[in-house]
Amino acid sequence: MIIKIKKYLKKLFIAITFNCILFTSFYGQKITFYHDVFPIIQKNCSPCHSKNSSAPFGLLTYKDVAPRARQIQKVIDSGVMPPWPADAGYQSFQNERILSEKEKKLIGNWIGSGMKKGVPNLFKKKENHSKSKDSKPEIILMVPDSFIVNKSLKDQFARFYFPNLVENDIEIGSFKFYSGNPEIVHHMEIWNCVPDSNAFEPGLKNPKIEIKDDLALTSHLTQTDNFISGILPGNLEESYPEGISVLLPKNSVMLALIHYAPVLTENKIQSKILLYKSKNPALRYAQTISILNNKDKMLNGPLFIPANSIKEFHSVKVIEADFSAFAVMPHAHQLCKNFFSFAINPEGDTIPIVRINSWNFQWQFLYRFKEFKVFPAGTEIHVMATYDNTSNNFQNPFNPPRDVGTSNRAQDEMMALFLIGVPFKSGDRGKILNYGQ
Ligand code: HEC
Repeated sequence: MIIKIKKYLKKLFIAITFNCILFTSFYGQKITFYHDVFPIIQKNCSPCHSKNSSAPFGLLTYKDVAPRARQIQKVIDSGVMPPWPADAGYQSFQNERILSEKEKKLIGNWIGSGMKKGVPNLFKKKENHSKSKDSKPEIILMVPDSFIVNKSLKDQFARFYFPNLVENDIEIGSFKFYSGNPEIVHHMEIWNCVPDSNAFEPGLKNPKIEIKDDLALTSHLTQTDNFISGILPGNLEESYPEGISVLLPKNSVMLALIHYAPVLTENKIQSKILLYKSKNPALRYAQTISILNNKDKMLNGPLFIPANSIKEFHSVKVIEADFSAFAVMPHAHQLCKNFFSFAINPEGDTIPIVRINSWNFQWQFLYRFKEFKVFPAGTEIHVMATYDNTSNNFQNPFNPPRDVGTSNRAQDEMMALFLIGVPFKSGDRGKILNYGQ
């Protein structure tokens, strides 16, 4: 009897193994672009590799992807693409784009097995990375048609005032940015200024433009001005979590700040920022806590990096009222090598915020937490960054290196952390955030 069972088990084992081999090779042949590879590309690559986005070519169809397959394999194996500078082992985020080993292998196997095309699934709902065509923006901030970016060997900053756009209180939940020329438009910010702000000009009727080669942003704006959102390279759309919006008060003025890289010829660039109303009435209004170089307690400041030196800086800011953060944006320029932020709450517990082991000026994202990070009053927010001002740093804008201080210009340095959130409410701890606005 036992021998019979053993024999039976042996047969069964052989049959299963054989079927597995058959299934694997059958499956191996069956990997197709549209069935297996496209969903990965659509989720992790197409948001940037499409028209009007920052990447130099589209990755939207088989025809876009197949001729570049080897190059794609190289950049995904080396981790260059999709760009995601934050250390996911330290803190993972809702909007992270990282390919799993399984996904990388699948793309490799697809290439290895002859890049079969397969059939596009026309009935499958397309993953929607952008606002649907029929959702109408509440406010459009459009750079006037007549505006020209002059040729300049220095960075240029333009301030665009938009009066008369906010006739009533408006709750904004999401944003979309069209740079008009991603190579020249380095970054854009939107601010909202209320009547007691320095930036407010009574009687101003039409959009007004100011251009400078350096802009001391903070000397012009006041405490009551509200940072609404910003686009940095690699970040074209933003939304607040459901139930949270930013309030634009009646009669306030919208202000867009646009930073242009040096350009050798005149350029006509019509950038555009669309602001969309929150889907549901917002229950809470967003606020930003900024930890800025020099302004806050920089333990070993000021931020100054002599030529041929490597320096680390450390800032600490104490939170004054209980705060629930839903996103964080670290910011620095080209000499930065790594960036690290964590909090220590009044009980002495360390709360991770964000760690970037290899800072890349090109990839500066707004990192969204999956659930609120609660910082009770008295929590210390620590920010640390290392700057390499030697000629070994290939991102150093000067060769030979020069002394570098602080300003908004890309060749100077910054060390800033923006925590975006809402005043704490009970129930925030552990609450999963939904960004589907
Ligand atoms: C956040 C935006 C973004 C995402 C997401 C993204 N890319 Fe890119 N990609 C870019 C930009 C911008 C460039 C050109 C600038 C550069 O070379 O750094 C680029 C360049 C490339 C290049 C050319 C590299 C070279 O050496 O010239 C390849 C290939 C590429 N991407 C593939 C991919 C693939 C595959 C994915 C998804 C797995 C992806 N990218 C995701 C923005 C993105």
